[in-house]
Amino acid sequence: MMRRFTVLLASLLACLPITVLAGSHSASADAPTVLITGGNRGLGLEFVRQYAADGWRVIATARRPEAADQLQALAQKNPLIIIEQLDVRDLPAIDALAAKYAEQAIDVLLNNAALSGSPSPKQMFRRLDFDLFNAFMETNARGPLKMSEAFLKHVQASEQKKIVVITSKGGLFSQLDSMAFGTYFYRASKAAVNMLMVQVAADVKKRGITVVLLNPGLVDTQDRLTQMNEKMKLGLTLVPIQESVAGLRNMIDTLPPEESGVVHQWSGERLDY
Ligand SMILES: NC(=O)c1ccc[n+]([C@@H]2O[C@H](COP(=O)([O-])OP(=O)(O)OC[C@H]3O[C@@H](n4cnc5c(N)ncnc54)[C@H](OP(=O)(O)O)[C@@H]3O)[C@@H](O)[C@H]2O)c1
Repeated sequence: MMRRFTVLLASLLACLPITVLAGSHSASADAPTVLITGGNRGLGLEFVRQYAADGWRVIATARRPEAADQLQALAQKNPLIIIEQLDVRDLPAIDALAAKYAEQAIDVLLNNAALSGSPSPKQMFRRLDFDLFNAFMETNARGPLKMSEAFLKHVQASEQKKIVVITSKGGLFSQLDSMAFGTYFYRASKAAVNMLMVQVAADVKKRGITVVLLNPGLVDTQDRLTQMNEKMKLGLTLVPIQESVAGLRNMIDTLPPEESGVVHQWSGERLDY
């Protein structure tokens, strides 16, 4: 019964224009809005948790909301979290979501979803699985670009006007010594998204929009990398996820417009391309 009420309330909130929503939010009269892709696990889920705890209105997307148990549990406790189904490889679906929220200003468009950078035998030279190439490019590079185009007006209509991409050091030519094995497609897709977003930064400057490109560090998300690190005693220093996301949020909050299109670490340092 309670769950049905929460779902109903969340659907109603999704239909209301931002001004009405802001007025209805008891924690803060001017709750800003963030849209987070891949909000069901890893860094995305932690972003949802932290933004929601700070009273933001959160639109969290997931490829399979029905399987997103932790995200669903968060949304049940906080009606300001709205879950939307989205596969960022599906271009018409991105347009449809943008149309659904046409009246909604989005302060922070947070492109977090990506195919993972964990090393894989399928991404090693002479064993390359070329079926994966397009999947990486479409998810990690084309996805954020298409999202930026589709949600441009929503971001421009907001107070904060930020397009964020969670990128990776692995896509920087200045960091060629890091993550050497089994990451061909991942690194290429992150290099591509960096270049695409430099272009976007130049194009949206006149609209007062800042493009924030951030590397989260090697984060302990309990995925394959975390497990390999433990099993194979790789000795990598992993950043606790709460710490990385708090640092990333601080960067999103404070990065000045002059730094638009420049890659930064979660902890603040500027990274060369
Ligand atoms: N963790 C690190 O150490 C690290 C380091 C450098 C950069 N990053 C970057 O940080 C971001 C988050 O990383 P993470 O470690 O949290 O990754 P993760 O745990 O592997 O989660 C990836 C998220 O992206 C979603 N996703 C994948 N393909 C998608 C698609 N086609 N459409 C929509 N969603 C899709 C996944 O959804 P499903 O659950 O449906 O698969 C999941 O929600 C990524 O951009 C990653 O490249 C992470």
